Amino acid sequence: MALRLGDTAPDFTAETTGGTIHFHEWLGNSWGMIFSHPADFTPVCTTELGRTASLKEEFDRRGVKVIAVSVDPLESHSEWIRDINETQQTTVNFPLIADPDRTVAELYDMIHPNASEKATVRSVFVIGPDKKIKLTLTYPASTGRNFNELLRVIDSLQLTASYQVATPADWQAGQDCIVVPAVSTEEAMKKFPKGVTVVKPYLRTTPQPNL
Ligand code: BEZ
Repeated sequence: MALRLGDTAPDFTAETTGGTIHFHEWLGNSWGMIFSHPADFTPVCTTELGRTASLKEEFDRRGVKVIAVSVDPLESHSEWIRDINETQQTTVNFPLIADPDRTVAELYDMIHPNASEKATVRSVFVIGPDKKIKLTLTYPASTGRNFNELLRVIDSLQLTASYQVATPADWQAGQDCIVVPAVSTEEAMKKFPKGVTVVKPYLRTTPQPNL
């Protein structure tokens, strides 16, 4: 069955370009992002892995461990990484899971047979320190993911994990947030000393609380 938000991210042991990992142990108490690729030596994936490598500081700053999955074997990954480093002017600095028997792809429902019988689609799972799935996202093979959007949603997830706020449409870090409906306006005034703007009784905004 497909994984849903709030489910525990399945644990597994796998060979990666960084050695054997036991996924939950590897995650430790960090946030995590696992994302799949249709195959090695494919153009869109090459740009995506390069982009991820170039964003290492951004993922590190948010305490997010990143790991990629592709159903090709380890030797193929190592060869492909050389191409990625060469063509994307970067150094791949996160592990790439070799999943030739599709164990991880099946655990995470990354193969959508009506899109492709064998290749994984572009799935993303963001996992919280509690090992629960906080975000799922699925792109088709032909569309490279928007990594700025992944960072944006991680910012929102991390903020809303600590404060009783939500983030509005197109929110970017630093912009006003929405007070969650469970908090009364009276309580909100106490919780958010930077101020609460009541647009409607159900739509209250406050400056981002952790700045
Ligand atoms: C790619 O992974 O680069 C790709 C896969 C399927 C269609 C187009 C591109």
